[in-house]
Amino acid sequence: TAPAAPVFPLRRSTSPASDEARAAALAEPGFGRYFTDHMARVSWDAERGWHDHRVEPYGPLTLDPATSVLHYGQEVFEGLKAYRHADGSVWAFRPRENARRLRESARRLALPELPESDFVAAVEALVRADAPWVPAGDEASLYVRPFLFASEPFVGVRASRRAELVVIASPAGPYFPRGLAPVSIWVSPDQHRAARGGTGAAKGGANYAASLAPQVDAAARGFDQVCYLDARTGSLLEEIGTMNVAVVRADGEVVTPPLGGTILAGVTRASLLRLLADAGHRVSERRLPLAEVVDGLRSGEVVEVLACGTAAVVTPVGRLAGDGFDLTVGDGSPGPLTAWARATLTDLQHGRAPDPYGWLHRL
Ligand code: COI
Repeated sequence: TAPAAPVFPLRRSTSPASDEARAAALAEPGFGRYFTDHMARVSWDAERGWHDHRVEPYGPLTLDPATSVLHYGQEVFEGLKAYRHADGSVWAFRPRENARRLRESARRLALPELPESDFVAAVEALVRADAPWVPAGDEASLYVRPFLFASEPFVGVRASRRAELVVIASPAGPYFPRGLAPVSIWVSPDQHRAARGGTGAAKGGANYAASLAPQVDAAARGFDQVCYLDARTGSLLEEIGTMNVAVVRADGEVVTPPLGGTILAGVTRASLLRLLADAGHRVSERRLPLAEVVDGLRSGEVVEVLACGTAAVVTPVGRLAGDGFDLTVGDGSPGPLTAWARATLTDLQHGRAPDPYGWLHRL
């Protein structure tokens, strides 16, 4: 039998945001700029295991300067969203998938594995405490960010004997400042995100840290995001760092690179593949050579390129460029299958369409 879900006692904030400040944040949340009044926490140490589940006022963490995460980056995180439906109820999308992935990430980074029921209970406790922060509206959600870090003050290199799970939440509109406009992608010819046997499949902060210099280079060239190629051959599309990638071929096939240890197993990716397959589309998880995509865009064999992730939902790619090529995808505007996928997924998440899969979890 599953262990009983832990209780998260609530210590209420004595200085929550005013109704006016919260309303202003919810009216134009952007992404990751405002945070709710509370945070959920669970502590771990090698002697006691997981303990001290709680919800407390949002605020700065006090860390010893020797805290190991600050030195060696032993940290993993998750991202999931909660949606307010038209009847006012609040739902999380597939939180158990995030709970499972956090465990897998933690294992790779030698962090303790939080039981899945504790993860889900932490999300429930935080979102219930901060329910007024869950926005309503077509593109709006509450982005929930659980993160787990090595908290032992010790400067030797070994797995930490203390860890801390913290869950914060932030009202969110579109991830990209230009909303749903297609993004431009620079395919990095020489900087790689992950190698076989590395940490690419783990959602560790260090993977994102490694993506920042390529991102700065791409931005200087005028691009929104970077797409990475596999480190072994430098010829296969892998992922966009904050998003998984897929292409639509003129014959209707949707192709996305297979998970193989170097790619993040996106919950949005998995959900989209299911929705597409169930709607009768041919979905292939197979190696996707850059040459196939470049030639396909030139010849018209590849008609859409899309990116997907929790933060970015489903985002059309309008331009793909790299060493020796600079191509517009279709006519540069969102393609029909990308638009369908986005609408189908967000309708389910926002309760505008039925949820035949049981993906929504009531909070
Ligand atoms: C997400 O989509 O949740 C991500 O983690 C992408 C980014 C905001 C880090």
